[in-house]
Amino acid sequence: MPDADDILERKNFYLEVPQTCKAFALKGSNALDWGMKNRLARVFSPDDCRTVMLAVDHGYFQGPTTGLERIDVTICPLIPYADALMITRGALRSTIPPEIAKPVVLRSSGGQSILKELSNERIAVDIEDAVRVNASALAVQVYIGGVHEHESIGNLVEIVNAGNRHGIPTMAVTGVGKELARDAKYLGLATRICAELGANFVKTYYCERGFAAVAAGCPVPLVIAGGKKLPEIDALRMAYRAVSEGAAGVDMGRNIFQCDAPKAMIQAVRAVVHENETPERAYDLYLSLKSAGEGSELCTAKTQLR
Ligand code: R5P
Repeated sequence: MPDADDILERKNFYLEVPQTCKAFALKGSNALDWGMKNRLARVFSPDDCRTVMLAVDHGYFQGPTTGLERIDVTICPLIPYADALMITRGALRSTIPPEIAKPVVLRSSGGQSILKELSNERIAVDIEDAVRVNASALAVQVYIGGVHEHESIGNLVEIVNAGNRHGIPTMAVTGVGKELARDAKYLGLATRICAELGANFVKTYYCERGFAAVAAGCPVPLVIAGGKKLPEIDALRMAYRAVSEGAAGVDMGRNIFQCDAPKAMIQAVRAVVHENETPERAYDLYLSLKSAGEGSELCTAKTQLR
């Protein structure tokens, strides 16, 4: 039975304290709805608004990519070190334990292979299925200047609209065909178009010159892809420069899972992104973790994630 007589004496409404709710710090995201912000705060650390996303979605157009032949074996041990996992729904359902407490950025466009024109994509996931797998964000490729530019922009717009209906943010991925230069002028154009059309964050490439302007000209967070496998120190330098020049982190794949010691490498990347560690010191960390045996062990039944 509620103690009706006691209510006024015991309750404290802190009458002298104005109600507050702090602004959402992630770039360009303060006007979003609560669910969007909540999901974005799972992908981007609320402490520094940065992220280390692990991209393992390559199979959607290039099949069993080196390092991803067995996602259950090679990727599961890395998940604890990632802030988010970018993956297809097929790989997610078949290889990733649902107990992982990490947000999923769901690859949501596809429809081509490396044997054909890469920009010829369509939406490849229903929004209901994205909800079903508890996606924290949707990823869609956009080919500015590509053969199917118009259709890929249409895919982005449809995904953004569907995501908005359900409170799920969209990450636009700027796909670059072989014929297009990855320079600041192009990347500035592509990333800005994606943001203007409603992408909540954008994945793009780092460029040596003018990246700071690309990041400044994009009103939502940018994350960079790693691209082809580089020597570890070079990949760490690229990540360092990108975050120093305004990126909100990385969505890195091959430069992590194609390393000799992927577990050591993802920790070194984290040091750069979240601790502003220099590439040289992060590389030392990589070497010491690698020589201590961190990184090459695979996922067995006993080491399955919980
Ligand atoms: C783009 O096509 C996909 O999202 C890739 O799987 C992803 O960008 C690759 O990441 P990385 O270039 O770091 O291997």
